[in-house]
Amino acid sequence: MEPHPRDPGRTAWVLPCLLLLVLPGNVLPGVGSQAGQNFSLQQPQAKVSVTAGETITLNCTISGVAGAGPVKWLKGWGNGNKTIYDQKTKDPRVTRAVNESNTDFTIRIRNAQPEDMGTYYCVKFVRSDSSVDEVFQRGSGTEVSVQAKPSPPLVSGPEQRIEAGQSVSFNCTTGGFFPEKIGVKWFKNREPMLAQLPQVTEWGVKTYNVSSTVKVTLQKDDVRSQLICEVQHSTLQVPLRERYQLSRVLRVSPSGEVRAEPSPVEVNKTVTFTCLLKEFYPANVSVSWLENGIGIKVENVSQPSEVSQGLFELKSQVEVQATEEKNGSTITCMVVHDAQAPANYSAFLWISNPGQGGLSKGFQMNKDDMLIYIVVGVVCTVLALLVAAILYLIRTKQIKGKSSPSARLHEPEKSSEATTQESDPNNLTYADLNFDKERKTIRRMVEMSQQSEYACIQTNQAPNGDDNLTYADLDMVHLSKAPKRPAPRPEEAGSEYASVQITRK
Ligand SMILES: *[C@@H]1O[C@H](CO)[C@@H](O)[C@H](O)[C@H]1NC(C)=O
Ligand SMILES: *[C@@H]1O[C@H](CO)[C@@H](O)[C@H](O)[C@H]1NC(C)=O
Ligand SMILES: *[C@@H]1O[C@H](CO)[C@@H](O)[C@H](O)[C@H]1NC(C)=O
Ligand SMILES: *[C@@H]1O[C@H](CO)[C@@H](O)[C@H](O)[C@H]1NC(C)=O
Ligand SMILES: *[C@@H]1O[C@H](CO)[C@@H](O)[C@H](O)[C@H]1NC(C)=O
Ligand SMILES: *[C@@H]1O[C@H](CO)[C@@H](O)[C@H](O)[C@H]1NC(C)=O
Ligand SMILES: *[C@@H]1O[C@H](CO)[C@@H](O)[C@H](O)[C@H]1NC(C)=O
Repeated sequence: MEPHPRDPGRTAWVLPCLLLLVLPGNVLPGVGSQAGQNFSLQQPQAKVSVTAGETITLNCTISGVAGAGPVKWLKGWGNGNKTIYDQKTKDPRVTRAVNESNTDFTIRIRNAQPEDMGTYYCVKFVRSDSSVDEVFQRGSGTEVSVQAKPSPPLVSGPEQRIEAGQSVSFNCTTGGFFPEKIGVKWFKNREPMLAQLPQVTEWGVKTYNVSSTVKVTLQKDDVRSQLICEVQHSTLQVPLRERYQLSRVLRVSPSGEVRAEPSPVEVNKTVTFTCLLKEFYPANVSVSWLENGIGIKVENVSQPSEVSQGLFELKSQVEVQATEEKNGSTITCMVVHDAQAPANYSAFLWISNPGQGGLSKGFQMNKDDMLIYIVVGVVCTVLALLVAAILYLIRTKQIKGKSSPSARLHEPEKSSEATTQESDPNNLTYADLNFDKERKTIRRMVEMSQQSEYACIQTNQAPNGDDNLTYADLDMVHLSKAPKRPAPRPEEAGSEYASVQITRK
């Protein structure tokens, strides 16, 4: 239907007819000029890069005159090409930048996706005689790349809680990103961790997923610890981070013990059994009490209290009446923690023997009391020995010299209650008076010890005349029941005798 360009005669005739044809077709202006001679198609962009979700703008302008036929946008060339835009396309994402323009065929593709990646060609078709659109001219192509941000990372751990001390794997996944290059880092609190190389897999068209695994040995003090998976990618200004609280999977089983107070107990008194559960996590724990395997009703159910590092502690108490037949009973604290198998902690109920109340009390004495008693005992013994030694020394001195005048009254030695309670058969009292004969002056009696007494018999008060003095010599005044013994220690001597001698001048 196109006019022959070499026939000007026909041109005038055809023109109105042509306009009728061209207008509904919305193809090219200047029809009837020499097609292809000064026609040019400009596709200025060699590369366009957008992030997924953004709008891709593909520029194309034409000038000059060409034969009738549409301008289209194709993605790819040759086999597998895809028409992105022509006058009939209904893809709502694709719009013209300048509607109805006959020169500007720039298109926009909204909400770019990784699958939009490829090379786009702006193509001018010309309709052949047989009504088939044939490629007339194409642009140099625009390479579109759509970078995709990785999805927010997800950290997953074990399905069930894991006991502290065990090793456990955690996984961090993210996907839908492009390009393929991605970095995954792990931190425990702020410390970087060693992890296996991340596994990148292709997922869909031009998008990738990644999975990274790290192994952690759970610790008792990890209740407040967290793992951080950090993802770095060219599309991200700030790395993506996902946190995982280790308390979600950590289990710390309690350590427990049962104590009986007092033990042994007097019959018919109350014993308090205390079950102390230390350092456990999580808090869900149930405590029940058994007496010889049979449940005891407990009024107060105590609640776990939080101690250091987020761990819990629980103290459960039960009071048991110590009737005689309960002697030797086993009191058990049965603990079910975090739906685990029950753990049992036990103590015995001991009733003290009523006959040996005092003795058993003595055995009950704790170590501190025992020590005090031992110290007191030792001190008393040492003191007693010292006194004995001093007395002995004084005595021997008197026997040897007899030169110094002295008077002593020995009283029974007071022994401490701790060492002995029975009465000493050798208990004795004696006096010892020793006055010097040769001296004719008034004696000054020297007090040798606190127990000694002295006697002085004086006939004349005037000390001038030596001849007026009368003196007594009481060598030994000894009153005791037992016969005299030769032992040097006066305390042990059992003799009883008196000797009073008065010498006249
Ligand atoms: C592409 O086309 C649009 C709309 O005509 C225009 O605003 C823009 O400047 C063009 N860009 C280039 C690089 O030619
Ligand atoms: C586009 O692909 C079709 C077949 O799918 C083919 O017939 C046509 O020649 C191709 N066009 C171009 C410009 O490569
Ligand atoms: C890949 O990542 C996407 C987006 O995060 C997710 O929807 C998809 O399930 C992942 N595929 C695989 C096989 O992990
Ligand atoms: C203990 O109590 C029982 C019953 O109440 C009573 O029979 C028994 O005599 C009591 N024993 C003592 C030592 O008090
Ligand atoms: C039980 O709880 C109440 C109130 O808290 C308290 O007065 C009582 O002494 C508790 N009894 C025992 C056996 O702990
Ligand atoms: C603890 O006691 C309960 C009840 O007697 C019993 O079923 C359980 O097996 C015991 N557990 C252990 C570890 O002894
Ligand atoms: C309780 O049992 C212990 C150990 O068998 C025993 O030594 C004690 O005398 C008993 N007490 C009574 C009150 O029977």
